[in-house]
Amino acid sequence: MKALVLSGGAGTRLRPITHTSAKQLVPVANKPVLFYGLESIRDAGITDVGIIVGETAEEVKAAVGDGSALGIKATYIPQDAPKGLAHAVLIAKDFLGNEPFVMYLGDNFLLGGITDLVNDFSKGNAEAQILLTKVPNPKQFGIAVLDDKGNVKTLVEKPKDPPSDLALVGVYMFRPKIHDAVRAIKPSGRGELEITDAIQWLVDQGHTVKPHLVTGYWKDTGRLEDMLECNRAVLETLDASNEGTIDSESKLIGRVVIEKGAEIIRSTVSGPAIIGKNTKLIDTYVGPYTSIYNDCLLEKNEIENSIILENTSIRNVGRIEGSLVGKEVEISGTSDQPKAHKLMLGDHSKVVISK
Ligand code: TTP
Repeated sequence: MKALVLSGGAGTRLRPITHTSAKQLVPVANKPVLFYGLESIRDAGITDVGIIVGETAEEVKAAVGDGSALGIKATYIPQDAPKGLAHAVLIAKDFLGNEPFVMYLGDNFLLGGITDLVNDFSKGNAEAQILLTKVPNPKQFGIAVLDDKGNVKTLVEKPKDPPSDLALVGVYMFRPKIHDAVRAIKPSGRGELEITDAIQWLVDQGHTVKPHLVTGYWKDTGRLEDMLECNRAVLETLDASNEGTIDSESKLIGRVVIEKGAEIIRSTVSGPAIIGKNTKLIDTYVGPYTSIYNDCLLEKNEIENSIILENTSIRNVGRIEGSLVGKEVEISGTSDQPKAHKLMLGDHSKVVISK
């Protein structure tokens, strides 16, 4: 069995982070979200992994390399534009051959892995199997309706009047008939080749499409709130550890991970939280559900429920909450006159200033 991991796309919902970076590489508890997916695939016993890449190909390749560090063999498949999930299957035909495969959306996060799904699919003879989860707000998802045998009957994208509360999670299992399906369908109203249309085609041609219910935590990390929620969920699972240095005036409370080379100086970290490699905290309070990535400097601030990417410095700014700050960002406070905010923000930035 092979795997097809989608790591292209536009990532419009996470701008401006995704103007310059791949959304699949935003760290959750200091590990790129994509790596959790690749590890789940490996843990399910699949090592031959095709990775669809788009504009951010170089960055994804730099992070994943040949895959050996993650225990997989990575093959990169370039997609010229994000033309849809079914388009990704279409262009991966040579890589996939006639083997069954799991398709995994690289920005989806699934606590608990995919081993059960892969085993379930391997034992059966369904042409496809889709991961579903019950959601309270089905209008915002692709929704599946099951027939009286419990097989998938119809799929509807973001229904106004939801016929069920079973949403599609970003992991799918396919046998080779899907290659006929992606060739048979036409682009949707938004101009994409939709995987839901391809799966519906399989059902309409009389093939069996089975559901597999996820009961564990799942999140599509497309938006800031989802990213923060996912970060909170993973931080909850970490055990405390310390590979850095902590001076006698600093305090660590609860489950705190201090990575190699980090320095904690006259600061308090209240877990669950993670402080990345070579990051320095000076006179700073880090509150629960915060992930600060590598090579950052935080001085004289308070920060909570936030994700900070690498090489960023935040100094003298008071309290930060519910924030996602990109790489190499500088934020600083000053008491100079005039008392005004001075900003240089990229396109699509979002700033909320507390008055
Ligand atoms: P989406 O979140 O559906 O699309 P997107 O990345 O364009 O994001 P946004 O809605 O914020 O603009 O994509 C799901 C995953 O699949 C994501 O990891 C990107 C990837 N993808 C591709 O690799 N190729 C594609 O053609 C599409 C549509 C998505």
